[in-house]
Amino acid sequence: MTASTFSRRTLLRLAPLGLAGPAWLQAQTFNPGAHGAHGAMNHGASPSPASARPVALAPDSAVPSGRDWRGLVPLANTSGQPGLFRARLVAAPAQVEFIPGRKTTVWAYNGMTPGPLIEVNEGDTVEIEFENRLPQPSTIHWHGLPVPADQDGNPMDLVAPGARRLYRYTLPKGSAGTYWYHPHPHYMTAEQVFRGLAGGFVVRAADDPLRGLPERHLFVSDLRLAADGRIPANTVMDWMNGREGQFALVNGLLRPVVAQQGTERWRIWNACNARFLRLRLGGQAFAQVGTDGGLLGAPVQGLTELLLAPAERCELVVAAGGAPAAWELSAESYDRGLMSLQHMMGEAGERRLPPAPRRVLAHVRSTPAAAPQPALPAALRPITPLGEAKVQRQVLFTEVMDMDAMHGLSEHAQQRPQGMQFQINGQVYDMDRIDFTARRGEVEQWEIINASDMDHPFHIHGTQFQVVERVIDNQTVPEPVLAWRDTVNVRPAEIVRIKLAQDLPGLRMFHCHVLEHEDMGMMAHLMVK
Ligand code: C2O
Ligand code: CU
Ligand code: CU
Repeated sequence: MTASTFSRRTLLRLAPLGLAGPAWLQAQTFNPGAHGAHGAMNHGASPSPASARPVALAPDSAVPSGRDWRGLVPLANTSGQPGLFRARLVAAPAQVEFIPGRKTTVWAYNGMTPGPLIEVNEGDTVEIEFENRLPQPSTIHWHGLPVPADQDGNPMDLVAPGARRLYRYTLPKGSAGTYWYHPHPHYMTAEQVFRGLAGGFVVRAADDPLRGLPERHLFVSDLRLAADGRIPANTVMDWMNGREGQFALVNGLLRPVVAQQGTERWRIWNACNARFLRLRLGGQAFAQVGTDGGLLGAPVQGLTELLLAPAERCELVVAAGGAPAAWELSAESYDRGLMSLQHMMGEAGERRLPPAPRRVLAHVRSTPAAAPQPALPAALRPITPLGEAKVQRQVLFTEVMDMDAMHGLSEHAQQRPQGMQFQINGQVYDMDRIDFTARRGEVEQWEIINASDMDHPFHIHGTQFQVVERVIDNQTVPEPVLAWRDTVNVRPAEIVRIKLAQDLPGLRMFHCHVLEHEDMGMMAHLMVK
């Protein structure tokens, strides 16, 4: 028996829009052959015995917290040539002592997790030699950057264990922003990222209006640590809901102490597989000045909260008040619709899991600046609306469960459940299928519809997009601020309309950036001609 897991509530909320009709319900057929056709369903990720016992986790107190914040380690540029950034990234197992006296094997870039920070200027050519010393194939994907499709670490361009390849691209003017890099081999992305492979990437503009502000980088990653110091494999529940460990780290540290002096520019990355960061800065107001793809047109002042879905980044300007203060940077609890196994199997109606609890990310001690500080500029950079769309597309997110295949599953089993599919337009990802074909430079409007019960952050490769409006409960809310993004959260029963244009030809992925969902098939292809 096949069941899709959206609730009656989600259906009712979408119904007025004509989207709950039989046509798209019928599209939700469960097709076990779709994965199997590639013979890849079970390859890659190290097979773990289907143990039904929960892994004993390290208690919070096992990992020291409260150390001094440290910046990301910059990746050294070995080219002597102006305009050329040349470096090497080696992905390999490495040992980290999260628990004093215990070694944890992580997968790291150049021996560190998070990986080294790449900092370049607009117009630079980047040449990175990648060497894969992992036991699995991998790639490096340059999340959010406008790089040629054959340099973007696509799942079909695998670098085998022991092999190397060169990634080479030039970053155009206008690309300044906050990006990141991570592996993208299909079925293995989630594991490679939760074992530690991800790093920051900052592109700078020569005419950056905020260059006078001291800058701080906070790269948030997720860690699940067993009591014995191992990083355990994903369970059935992780594959369904997306993995959230018991720790949220900032630059690899648990709750570091940030010594803020005067007004600072913060870049924050959500590099977690599935953790949503509902950021709060101890309740004090801050200004948002940038999104994934760089600066906003003007600062958005007076925010007290900002939701950063997995893969999203932001730039904030954080002022230190008139007196010394201590406060917490936190990720508040956020309900993203976590499912229980019973709920998914349709056994117990609406039984859900409680959302992940609030986490403190860092302790901040702020002291006022010694000298008076310049006011934030009223305008940051011009952002032009993309204009009229020539093409309209729909992207529908659904979750489909085959209850027979799932019967008797233990939620602690460390296995990828057969019978669970995360779909786009009624299909799971197929490496050989082209889902959409677009023309270079042509403006398109995409409508992302979430007909499931969980939040799904939509992400597309190759370009930045502009959110036009969001529709929820039949109410259309125009996006208040024009911004460049490559990732946008879509809540259950929500429709997000975006505009985009792809300037470079080639094959691009779009997918949910809960990495488990991506690996489970919530990914598709756009061919740009
Ligand atoms: Cu962060 Cu397909 O990417
Ligand atoms: Cu990407
Ligand atoms: Cu998802």
